[in-house]
Amino acid sequence: PVLVVDFGAQYAQLIARRVREASVYSEIVPHTITAEEVAARNPVGIVLSGGPSSVYEEGAPSLDEGILQLGVPTLGICYGFQVMARQLGGEVAHTGQREYGATAVTARTDDNRLLGGQPEHQTVWMSHGDSVAVAPEGFEVLASTASTPVAAFANDEKQFYGVQWHPEVKHSEYGQDVLENFLHRAAGIPADWNAGNVIAEQVARIREQVGSARVISALSGGVDSAVSTALVQQAVGDQLTAVFVDHGLLRKGEREQVQQDYVQATGVRLVTVDAADTFLAALEGVSDPEQKRKIIGREFIRAFEQAERDLIAEAAAEGEPIRFLVQGTLYPDVVESGGGTGTANIKSHHNVGGLPEDLQFELVEPLRTLFKDEVRQIGRELGLPEAIVGRQPFPGPGLGIRIVGEVTRDRLDLLREADAIAREELSAAGLDGEIWQCPVVLLADVRSVGVQGDGRTYGHPIVLRPVSSEDAMTADWTRLPYDVLAKISNRITNEVREVNRVVLDVTSKPPGTIEWE
Ligand code: XMP
Repeated sequence: PVLVVDFGAQYAQLIARRVREASVYSEIVPHTITAEEVAARNPVGIVLSGGPSSVYEEGAPSLDEGILQLGVPTLGICYGFQVMARQLGGEVAHTGQREYGATAVTARTDDNRLLGGQPEHQTVWMSHGDSVAVAPEGFEVLASTASTPVAAFANDEKQFYGVQWHPEVKHSEYGQDVLENFLHRAAGIPADWNAGNVIAEQVARIREQVGSARVISALSGGVDSAVSTALVQQAVGDQLTAVFVDHGLLRKGEREQVQQDYVQATGVRLVTVDAADTFLAALEGVSDPEQKRKIIGREFIRAFEQAERDLIAEAAAEGEPIRFLVQGTLYPDVVESGGGTGTANIKSHHNVGGLPEDLQFELVEPLRTLFKDEVRQIGRELGLPEAIVGRQPFPGPGLGIRIVGEVTRDRLDLLREADAIAREELSAAGLDGEIWQCPVVLLADVRSVGVQGDGRTYGHPIVLRPVSSEDAMTADWTRLPYDVLAKISNRITNEVREVNRVVLDVTSKPPGTIEWE
C-alpha cells in the first residue's frame, strides 16, 4: 500500500481517497508509527499529511526519523512537508505570516516529476503559519508564493517530494495531478487498484475466513449491506442466507427492489420477515420521536432474532452451524474508532438498525478497507441494481421518523406516495448527484385550510428537506430549481389525497438535523 501518515487533521482520509482515485491502494496510519512498523507493511510510497500544529509547538506530532531512512518514496503535504524539511536538514521559519485559503502559486515549468506539465501560475489551497525557509541540501525548489519562498521541493534521487499546499482538496486546481505525478511518475507506482481486484481479493479472503460454515446477513436495502452481502454471496454461495426485515416503514418499491431485483442480480438465498403488523401495533399511539426509535430498534432485533433462531435450527439439523454474520462496516468507521492506528482496539459499528449486542457470531466485514464511493463502484461491478447501489442514505427507522405524530398505516401510505413523487421528479431533473438526500416528511398532526376545485380542504402539509452534505455531520439545504419544486408541489397536492400544501425546509445543519425526528 501507500501509507498515509495522519498528523491529526481532518485531511488524512481525504488524501487516502484521492490516492485510491489514482488507482493505488492506500491505508491511513498514525504519526506515532515506528520505522519498523512501516517497513513491516512494505509500502510502495508514503504520504505525510497536513496537521493542525506548528512544528515548533510543544508536543507537536513528530515522525520517527527512521521512516525517512527506509528508502520509500515520500510526499510531504503542508505540515508533513515541514516535518520532512526539518528532519532532512532544511529550515522551517515561524514567520507569523499565515497563508490561508486560495493562494496564487508560481510553479517551475520544466519537466520536473512533480509539477511538470502544469501551468506556471495556479491557484492552490493553503493553510499554514510556519514556512519552509530553506530547502534541505540536495533538494530543488519547485514552486513559491508571494510570502513562501519554498512552496514545493523535490529530490529525485531520494524520491522525496513535498508541497506546502493541500493537493487533496478540490480548491487546488491541479491537486490531483500533483498526487498522481508523485505516485506514478516520481515513485513509479502502477495504477492497478480497481473494483475488479478488490472483489477478487475479498472473495478469496471471505472463503478463507468462512470455510464451509454457514453465514447470515441482515439486508436493509441500503448500499453497504447490499454490497457486503453480495460479496459474501459471490464467495460462498448458498452457505449464506440473507435476512430482510420488512418493518412496513419502507419507501415505495424498496421491498420489491430487494426481493426481486437484488435476488435476481446476486442469486442470494433470501428470507423476508414480514413484520409490518408487529411494528405498527407496537407503534400505536406513540408520537414521541425517541420512543418511536426505541420501539423500532427493539422490534427490529426481535424480528431478526426470530429469523436467526429458525435458521440456526435449520442449519443445526443439516450439520453445518451458522458461525458468521456479515456486516457492512466501512473504512471511515474503522479509522474513526481507532482502527487506523493499527494498535487501538477496533470497535465494530453496527450499521444495520441496531443488531443485538450479544450476537455469538464472528463478523465478516468485506468493506472494512473501503470508502462509500468505492463500495458503490464495487456494487456496480457486481451487477447490483442502480436503484440500490445509487441509493441515498435512508435511516433504519425509515418512514417511522418522517411522520410527525403517530405512525399509522394510512399515514404511511400517504407519505410513501408523496416521497415517491419527490424522488421521481428529482431523478427526472437529474438532481440525484447534487443532493445528499431529500427526506419527505408528513406533518400528520398539523392541518391547514386550502381550496381545491370549488371546495374548502383541510389537509396536511408535506415538507421537502433536500440537503447537500459531505458526511451528514453538517449539511446545507439544497437550492433546488424553482421549476422542479413547483412540479413536485403540483403533483403531490394533486395526487396525494389529504395533502393540500407542500413546504420547503430551508434550515442548515446545525441547527436543524437532517431528519425531523
Ligand atoms: P440527522 O437527522 O441526525 O441525520 O441529521 C444524519 C444522517 O443519519 C441518518 N439517520 C439515521 N440512519 N439510523 C440510521 O441508519 C437512524 O436511526 C438514523 N437517524 C438518522 C439520516 O438519514 C442522515 O443521513
